[in-house]
Amino acid sequence: MENKQSILIVDDDTSTRNLIADALKEENRYYIRDVDSGIKALELFQEKPCDLVISDLKMPGMDGIELLNRIQEIHPTTSIIIITGYPSVDISVSAMKSGAIDFLEKPFKIDDLLFKVDICMKEKLTLGEKDLDIKIDMARLNNKIEELSTISYIYDNIEKTGSNNDEVFREIVALALKVTGGESCSIVLFDEDNNAFYPQIVKNRNDGGYNTDKAITSLYVMFRDVAQKKEAVLINSNGDTELFKSLLCAPLMIRNKVFGLLSIINNKMEKHFTQKDLNYISSLSKRASLNIENRMLYESVFTSIMDTFMSLIHSIHARDHYTERHSINVSLLAVKTATAMRLSTNQIECLKISGMLHDIGKIAIPDSILLKPGPLTNEEYNVIKTHPSTGEDILSHIKLFGPEKKVIRHHHERWDGRGYPDGISGEDIPLLSRILAVADTFDAITNDRPYRKGLPIDTAVNKLNRNRNLQFDETVVDAFISTL
Ligand SMILES: [Fe+2]
Repeated sequence: MENKQSILIVDDDTSTRNLIADALKEENRYYIRDVDSGIKALELFQEKPCDLVISDLKMPGMDGIELLNRIQEIHPTTSIIIITGYPSVDISVSAMKSGAIDFLEKPFKIDDLLFKVDICMKEKLTLGEKDLDIKIDMARLNNKIEELSTISYIYDNIEKTGSNNDEVFREIVALALKVTGGESCSIVLFDEDNNAFYPQIVKNRNDGGYNTDKAITSLYVMFRDVAQKKEAVLINSNGDTELFKSLLCAPLMIRNKVFGLLSIINNKMEKHFTQKDLNYISSLSKRASLNIENRMLYESVFTSIMDTFMSLIHSIHARDHYTERHSINVSLLAVKTATAMRLSTNQIECLKISGMLHDIGKIAIPDSILLKPGPLTNEEYNVIKTHPSTGEDILSHIKLFGPEKKVIRHHHERWDGRGYPDGISGEDIPLLSRILAVADTFDAITNDRPYRKGLPIDTAVNKLNRNRNLQFDETVVDAFISTL
């Protein structure tokens, strides 16, 4: 047996299996084993690989393509001939892509099969030990390249995920289904303190939508186990459970604490997940966890800084007689204008914050000037005019507000160059500052003050129109008016 090349025959149809086995045994050149299922074949193969596998395509439990994939993971140079009674172009392409050396259609002539086996085995004998080693190394290298490319694809896509956690969860499940070829994927949030699960999202490959109602409650016992061990698992049921045929589950963790579980299931499809799929899901869940942790950290830092600034703004408005809604209004009006101008999400976000904080520099203006009831002297007006650059100075200490500080610096510039602090004109003024200028003026006119009611919208619109190309960029004025 030691000197003979080995062949494994896999077919659930006994007569076909025997036919092939008998014919090959007659050759007396090969060591033959035969089994009636893909699962048994894989077990045998794991014990002792062989030179060639001849497998049926349609078999209960694990089909020929699945078996082919698993075998190639274990021993990349094993050759495979797939035999089927259901030929289709799709299956042929899939088998060839998976590396099957040949494809034989039922009913086949036994001589045709023997010929294919003979060619295949002779090629193996012709290849020296060294050639085989190179072939194995190449196959492993290709495998590794494919794995690294997929992991890099996962990382890139996680980095590109949207701005809130719901979007991140949607991206994660879509990505998990894509890289594993799974049937259904879910994220369940886990409250460790109360040992409770909360279904967050479910996506099925075929219905396209996202569903949070379908709780996968039957899997909670297994989820608890994964949450406890904090490690991704792959479970192939081999028919001993109705719940799934093959399952991957990975913990989502922040600071080593499990806050959710990502699971992917195959139930009807003839596919078992592989070690490679497990690696993908493990990488995906770790990267997604990091992304969510960073996002939450950023949000909490950002929120606490914004809260501090907003309380400063509140105190400024209390001093200079604006209602506290002024900055909120300016922010909303500016965002509406930017949306009408189809600016990018980043620009709109920047404008939202700049609108809220545009007058933060007024904190440095003494009460004697800011609260002066009568007209200001030139000197006093010059002090007022420092507030945009003071605002920029205040924000420059916080790296998060890099883009906003420029917008705030220039919110009192004029299109004709007669504004402050730099006297720049036209398109030299940042676009977002030009938008802020229009929103600020409009709200200053229409806003209620303690000493007068806000003026009508028409009055404000007339002022904007009178000042197009003087104080304001007319494109911005048009966009602004279109939102009213
Ligand atoms: Fe201002």
